[in-house]
Amino acid sequence: MSYFKTSSALRFGVIASCAAALVLVTTILVKPAVQAQPAPANPPLNGGAVYVGEAVCIACHAAPGKQFAHTAHANAFRLNPKNEQEKVTCEACHGPGSNHLKDPISKENHVSLIGFTKDWGTPIAQQTAMCLTCHQGGERMFWPGSPHATNDLSCSDCHNPMAKISATGLLKKATINETCYTCHQQQRADFAKRSHMPVNEGKLSCVDCHNPHGTTSKTLLKADSVNETCYSCHTEKRGPFLWEHAPVRDNCLTCHNAHGSNHDKLLNIARPMLCQQCHTNAAGHQSNLYNASQMIGGGGAVSSRVLGRSCQNCHSQIHGSNHPAGARFQR
Ligand code: HEC
Ligand code: HEC
Ligand code: HEC
Ligand code: HEC
Ligand code: HEC
Ligand code: HEC
Ligand code: HEC
Ligand code: HEC
Ligand code: HEC
Ligand code: HEC
Repeated sequence: MSYFKTSSALRFGVIASCAAALVLVTTILVKPAVQAQPAPANPPLNGGAVYVGEAVCIACHAAPGKQFAHTAHANAFRLNPKNEQEKVTCEACHGPGSNHLKDPISKENHVSLIGFTKDWGTPIAQQTAMCLTCHQGGERMFWPGSPHATNDLSCSDCHNPMAKISATGLLKKATINETCYTCHQQQRADFAKRSHMPVNEGKLSCVDCHNPHGTTSKTLLKADSVNETCYSCHTEKRGPFLWEHAPVRDNCLTCHNAHGSNHDKLLNIARPMLCQQCHTNAAGHQSNLYNASQMIGGGGAVSSRVLGRSCQNCHSQIHGSNHPAGARFQR
């Protein structure tokens, strides 16, 4: 059995043989582990319990033990452990288990184990700190202070490392999108609209645009801005253009919804009203919905500014033009 080295700070507490000091030291020690900067798992976890090894755990938890065998953690910890913490398998995440064995059932003894389900009651900060002992940095660089962290999500709200449910990423649902939809119902509706990014079709997923672990930009976007996010796939929209259309440079979402819309091409509103938000009575021609001969009841044919692609029957290069005569985006 591998007993972990008692931290030197703890030893200091014992030498001082002063119970009050010990409590103080432990509080100071445990607190940072519970916040943004988790220390390695050597401050006394689970009330100073010791590690018992996974064989003991599996003796009672046979089913979870079996399912766990197919996960990335089981492979890494069992076949190729890189350190003492990985060697203890189950207890690498749940913490040393000896106190849990004394009384696994009573609620008062829940503190003897780090649980990741809501009912168990382990504070969320302590749960995330546990995962972050190994997964800090990288994609989780900006986890502290991110919208998900500040809204008290635990890693286990999206991940279930106890079984291989998703092909990658140890998610709690079969796909990334389904994982996100469990909470983001509005987005589920958006992606079901008539015109939508092909997320449900599997061509891209939420994490192509968002990093759920936190970013430096607004709304968890992976790139620095909305437009940079879009350019990462729609590179031709980046330009440079001889003739630029100001709102395109400003923000793609001025006209498009990033997820889905009931209007063609994910447009926020239908053409020509989309254009007429900004262009009314343009100098070149009147850009109102009806011209003089086509007022309601005025007879005549329907205006070309309303039919089909509407304004774009003529202004086709709406994202910008490189034609010498493309100032009006007509070519
Ligand atoms: C003697 C049998 C026994 C052994 C050995 C045992 N457990 Fe448990 N464990 C239980 C029982 C019973 C419960 C259910 C308690 C409850 O639901 O209130 C439980 C609950 C749990 C939970 C549930 C937490 C949650 O979120 O609901 C975890 C995690 C857990 N044990 C991990 C371990 C680990 C890790 C080990 C090895 C160190 C281990 N157990 C060893 C009997 C055992
Ligand atoms: C990588 C971290 C990690 C490891 C390693 C791990 N667990 Fe878990 N365990 C979790 C998380 C997270 C949950 C919560 C899953 C959920 O949301 O349902 C959990 C839940 C559980 C539960 C309660 C819910 C259930 O699925 O029954 C038990 C019991 C349990 N683990 C036992 C074990 C045992 C036994 C092992 C070793 C064979 C083990 N765990 C290894 C992270 C881990
Ligand atoms: C003791 C260190 C350790 C702890 C604690 C730990 N992990 Fe891991 N985790 C690993 C290792 C090692 C891998 C395998 C990395 C690899 O294959 O590159 C891994 C892989 C993963 C993966 C990627 C799986 C894949 O298929 O690519 C996810 C997701 C993950 N861990 C989530 C968690 C969560 C959530 C927790 C807390 C419940 C947790 N880990 C706790 C060490 C740890
Ligand atoms: C809001 C949902 C969500 C939360 C909360 C979350 N993750 Fe993830 N995580 C994901 C998704 C989605 C992926 C990508 C999975 C894939 O690519 O298959 C991922 C990937 C990972 C990976 C594998 C890729 C990599 O970065 O190496 C690790 C490890 C990981 N998460 C750890 C964590 C840890 C630790 C926490 C808690 C601090 C956490 N995650 C919280 C959704 C989440
Ligand atoms: C094509 C890129 C892209 C994909 C794919 C994508 N998003 Fe977004 N998402 C965005 C952009 C851009 C915003 C708006 C950012 C802003 O307004 O600053 C956004 C905003 C959000 C918001 C904030 C509320 C809102 O609607 O403005 C949530 C929540 C969200 N997305 C969740 C999801 C989920 C869940 C998925 C996957 C099912 C997903 N997103 C897929 C680009 C994307
Ligand atoms: C357990 C519930 C839950 C899950 C699962 C979840 N989220 Fe969230 N998400 C939240 C909460 C709570 C907020 C913050 C409140 C809000 O803005 O609605 C949030 C906010 C967001 C935002 C907006 C951030 C901002 O700055 O406004 C985005 C984007 C987002 N989530 C993306 C995702 C993606 C992508 C996934 C899947 C990988 C995901 N979420 C999974 C609960 C969840
Ligand atoms: C990860 C790659 C990716 C990113 C990032 C991305 N898109 Fe897309 N987009 C696609 C794919 C794939 C399609 C579907 C193309 C197809 O089916 O031919 C698409 C389709 C579209 C369409 C509809 C085209 C049609 O014919 O109906 C619009 C509009 C669009 N994207 C706008 C945006 C905007 C705005 C952003 C930034 C918020 C963005 N895209 C970010 C991959 C991406
Ligand atoms: C002024 C409004 C407006 C802005 C801003 C805008 N678009 Fe569009 N976009 C449109 C319209 C209108 C269509 C439909 C074109 C058509 O029917 O030919 C379209 C179509 C698209 C298409 C599908 C057809 C194609 O041309 O490939 C993509 C992809 C697209 N836009 C991406 C973007 C991206 C990326 C941005 C930001 C850089 C952006 N749009 C900004 C109005 C706009
Ligand atoms: C958010 C406001 C906005 C929207 C929506 C918008 N535009 Fe523009 N548009 C502008 C601005 C600003 C200019 C630059 C005007 C200038 O330089 O004087 C411009 C320039 C133009 C020009 C070049 C004319 C000129 O004066 O240089 C044309 C043509 C044009 N837009 C057509 C359209 C069409 C067609 C749509 C709908 C698909 C549309 N616009 C949607 C703001 C908008
Ligand atoms: C039948 C073709 C056609 C349609 C349809 C059309 N336009 Fe035009 N538009 C033109 C032409 C040609 C010019 C250039 C006039 C000039 O250079 O004097 C122009 C010029 C413009 C200008 C620039 C005016 C200026 O300042 O010089 C704007 C803005 C504009 N159109 C917006 C729109 C909007 C908005 C719609 C849809 C409601 C629309 N157009 C529909 C042909 C069209």
